[in-house]
Amino acid sequence: SLSRVYVTRQIPPEGLKILKESGQVQFELWDSDDVPVPRKELLQKVKGVDGLLCVLTEKIDKELLDAAGPNLKVISTMSVGFDHLSLEELKNRGIRVGYTPEVLTDAVAELTVALLLTTSRRLIEATHEAKTGGWGTWRTLWLCGYELANSTVGIFGLGRIGVAIAERLAPFKVKKFIYTDVAPRPELAKQINAEYGEENHFIVAQFVIRLLSMDELTKRSDFLAMCCALTPETKEICNKNFFSKMKKTSIFINTSRGGVVNQDDLYEALSTGQIAGAGLDVTVPEPLPTSHPLFTLKNCVILPHIASASYTTRNAMSALAANNLLLGLRDEPMIKELQL
Ligand code: GLV
Ligand code: GLV
Repeated sequence: SLSRVYVTRQIPPEGLKILKESGQVQFELWDSDDVPVPRKELLQKVKGVDGLLCVLTEKIDKELLDAAGPNLKVISTMSVGFDHLSLEELKNRGIRVGYTPEVLTDAVAELTVALLLTTSRRLIEATHEAKTGGWGTWRTLWLCGYELANSTVGIFGLGRIGVAIAERLAPFKVKKFIYTDVAPRPELAKQINAEYGEENHFIVAQFVIRLLSMDELTKRSDFLAMCCALTPETKEICNKNFFSKMKKTSIFINTSRGGVVNQDDLYEALSTGQIAGAGLDVTVPEPLPTSHPLFTLKNCVILPHIASASYTTRNAMSALAANNLLLGLRDEPMIKELQL
């Protein structure tokens, strides 16, 4: 008999096609991409389902799992991030979880490089000046920023995405790559096509990415990119103390999760010149209210969580999420499953 599934968003067509053609599920869909399913509606719709395909705007917590009831055996999220899932609760109930790493690595790395250059070379300010009459003449120090050549790039959380960013930045003549991580992860080397060398350094395509303490990372980085998952260990790790160690000429980039940053402390660091600029693809909350103080700062570039937003990648994420769901419902190994 068919498994019952709820899909919390009108996901890109490739995933829907897979579900429809599977002959395995009977699914209901929140048929909009413009607004998330209201919580009340979601709690109703999940009653008795076997599987749930969700996106990162849905909190999958005790309340939701209770509402779903004992049939629920698979959650498949169309995201690499999993901070919207109560992992402990899922584990205790024996519910399996699929997610979508790898397929979005290229898109996220490209966007991160774009955001980094946009922030460091002040492109948003520059286009604004050009079209609003600020372009009086060519000026010697007007709209100057910071260049990647000869710089030190710091990566907080060296996973697939962090490495993909480093690979793309290396041709800009970066002098040094450094990283820090919550724990050394030698097992990662194979996944990211790297060698794991002395002192926990990774060697990726000829260049060395050196492991340093967080203290050293903040002190030495000219560009610091957050590439870690949001967990209890990384929550608001970018706080007053963190920013106070960074160079006044440094650029902070976050394409991971807004929750790794204390935004009041970031505002303070940006408005007092403690750091030179910040590029954020993620905030707390999302959407960030248009009245938020960070929007008043010229040296802060804010994007609406679009790092994985290419047609190719979003369709690949949709397809992977659909396949994970179907495999999980058949009690087979998923293509990408979170180990709880
Ligand atoms: C996006 O932020 C994702 O987790 O896929
Ligand atoms: C982490 O989520 C990664 O793919 O780097």
